[in-house]
Amino acid sequence: YKSLLTMSDLSNKDIINILHDAKKFSTSHKDWHFTKSYLVANLFFEPSTRTHYSFVSAEYGLNCKVVDFNANASSLKKGESLYDTIKTFQMLGYEAMVIRHPEDEYFKQLESIDVPMINAGDGCGNHPSQCLLDLYTIYEHFQTFEDLNVVIVGDIAHSRVAKSNDEALTRLGANVKFAGPKKWMIDTKRYMDLDQACKWADVVMLLRIQHERHEQETALSKDTYLDMYGLTKQRYETLKEKTIVMHPAPVNRQVEIDSDLVEASKSRIFKQMENGVYVRKAMLKYVLQEEFE
Ligand code: CP
Repeated sequence: YKSLLTMSDLSNKDIINILHDAKKFSTSHKDWHFTKSYLVANLFFEPSTRTHYSFVSAEYGLNCKVVDFNANASSLKKGESLYDTIKTFQMLGYEAMVIRHPEDEYFKQLESIDVPMINAGDGCGNHPSQCLLDLYTIYEHFQTFEDLNVVIVGDIAHSRVAKSNDEALTRLGANVKFAGPKKWMIDTKRYMDLDQACKWADVVMLLRIQHERHEQETALSKDTYLDMYGLTKQRYETLKEKTIVMHPAPVNRQVEIDSDLVEASKSRIFKQMENGVYVRKAMLKYVLQEEFE
């Protein structure tokens, strides 16, 4: 088996293979499933709608036996550590685990636990399943990553989505720039003014403001944020014909994006969620090293 914790666990060839498998799960292999019914645990130590329940959907679709861990009703409440919790699941016979945890690189403390793991998000660190579904959505539209102009907009510093996408898209040949409040930039050399970026980009990737990871509340009102750093109707009008708009969601409507644009023709926001199920099936196939017959 393998684990899939960060995008650097995958070669470019692995990424393309996962995207091809995901495409099959959306078309010819919609009903394909594992011949063995693996016992899989989803352990979410942070809130989630899309990632958690699209893994559940993918797991059921692949014929897994699925268990959702409830942290609030567990022995974590008695002070048990993350390591002891995950080791316990291994000893109980769980054959794969999907884990989201607020600590950056929480998985480093689990290295000695011999079970396939998928990282469903670690703090401000990595979000490989979101990244792969974003890559799938981009590839579906452009059939390439080479020389694509991608601007990632907003709370870059606290975003695991931005980190994983920057790493993978750059490796695959895209030009990645950042826009938004300067205090949230991670690489000022690649900063681009948002109005300029909207005219330049093939992909506008918006991010949620990660209030829960801020030490201080942002001083800007919602309307001011939208006007300064969000996708307004005026900015949308300046996008190139083939440009697509993405957001990992949950969306703060009328903050990162004008609410009326969430389902605009260039938006792929809900399509990304659908693609997440195909991609997560492909990730489970990858870590459990199952092959299409
Ligand atoms: N995009 C994403 O990770 O959403 P959830 O937090 O709802 O899983």
